[in-house]
Amino acid sequence: MVQNREVWGSKFGFILAAAGSAVGLGNIWKFPYIAGENGGAAFVFVYLICIAIIGFPVLIAEILIGRTTQKNPVGAFTALSHNKFWISIGFLGVLAGFLILSFYSVIGGWTIGYVIETLKGSISSFNDPAEAGELFNALVGNVGWNIGFHTIFFALVMFIVIRGVQGGIERASKIMMPILVFILVILIIRGVTLKGASAGVMFLWVPDWSKITAESILIALGHAFFTLSLGMGAMMTYGSYMSKKDNVVTSSAQIVTLDTLIALMAGLAIFTAVFASGLDPAAGPGLIFQTLPAVFSSMTGGTFFSLLFFLLLAIAALTSAISLLEVVVAYFVDEQKWNRKGAVIIFGGITYLLGIPSALSFNVMSGVTFFDLNFFDLIDFIASNILLPFGGLMIAVFAGWVWSRTEMMAAAKEGAERLFETYPWFEGIWLMFLKFIAPVLIALVLLNKLGFSITG
Ligand code: TRP
Repeated sequence: MVQNREVWGSKFGFILAAAGSAVGLGNIWKFPYIAGENGGAAFVFVYLICIAIIGFPVLIAEILIGRTTQKNPVGAFTALSHNKFWISIGFLGVLAGFLILSFYSVIGGWTIGYVIETLKGSISSFNDPAEAGELFNALVGNVGWNIGFHTIFFALVMFIVIRGVQGGIERASKIMMPILVFILVILIIRGVTLKGASAGVMFLWVPDWSKITAESILIALGHAFFTLSLGMGAMMTYGSYMSKKDNVVTSSAQIVTLDTLIALMAGLAIFTAVFASGLDPAAGPGLIFQTLPAVFSSMTGGTFFSLLFFLLLAIAALTSAISLLEVVVAYFVDEQKWNRKGAVIIFGGITYLLGIPSALSFNVMSGVTFFDLNFFDLIDFIASNILLPFGGLMIAVFAGWVWSRTEMMAAAKEGAERLFETYPWFEGIWLMFLKFIAPVLIALVLLNKLGFSITG
């Protein structure tokens, strides 16, 4: 067989692409608002623990499965187990990628739409969040605006993925990730130099332990998964293009660190600005699209910072969206022998079409509900709340219990011999987290999401 599967150009390229997948709307839109709703610092602390004890061990396992088999999720489980059950877990991953991308692109479209609104000058005239909210409602209520920007966002995603692993995904990540960090640093400097910014810093750094509830722990745990792109094979697919000379453990640590730092930095930039304007940190999902524009309106140079902010959000969303499409494409390229371009156009096209009812959920289809959820929320619920935790659970169980211990450790040590020799305890701890702690905690989140509330 001709072995011409694509690979990353360098270890650094892989780290940036994987960090690009991890750093997304989850970090800049969702993390700040759930931290805001759940009391700030105490929640951040719980979240950091979840990242360390669940996110990190499962990320190593997911990347390792990909690197060892050099396959998409379906091919990877086929290669390692030949068992129908595990192969269907791979299919669920491909399905989840398809579903998540369809609605992720709608929000990705909004971020580009807000860049354009800022350029048109609409973001500079609000007196309070209610006025910014009116614009937001008018925009998302507009069919053409929603579908138009969904189309633009999706076209960009397809354009990058068509160009392949090195020429498309890696190159785009190498350009966009440094810009993202740079913009974030500027926004933090602006935030912390505002009068009254210290209240925002305190909100994020000084914990009020009474704010921790069972509910907020579950939210933190679920988010740890989403933010690291775990549970559906995105990291597996990116790992499949990784060299066996590279160290999976330190690479995972770098990805986790970048993702976490960027979430914290986004929180810092946003809460300093929100507190300095005396606005509500617990505004929920509208924090970014309603509270922040009001903040920008009241700030000197607000239009400029608004432009930077929504550009930041668009870049983050784009580098994540390409990882979602890549999972689907890798499956059709590896297993069905499609060429990359055909797979991107056909399956990207189908995913795009599935996104349309999501884009319409905020306007003409807002009354169409399934189990009380509109189409957008339904797809989000199935993918993020059911398929991802379930997939994550299965990846932990597979690595912890099914994959032969000797084979797995041999694979993990390739490129990481020194690390496992220098820190002999690491192996045992990693295995313990994979076998027991991660599966039990993930199962709790999953049951809770399905409505078996342990919080009463
Ligand atoms: N991690 C991304 C974010 O924080 C979203 C994302 C991209 C994702 N690929 C994924 C989530 C795969 C789960 C699985 O926005």
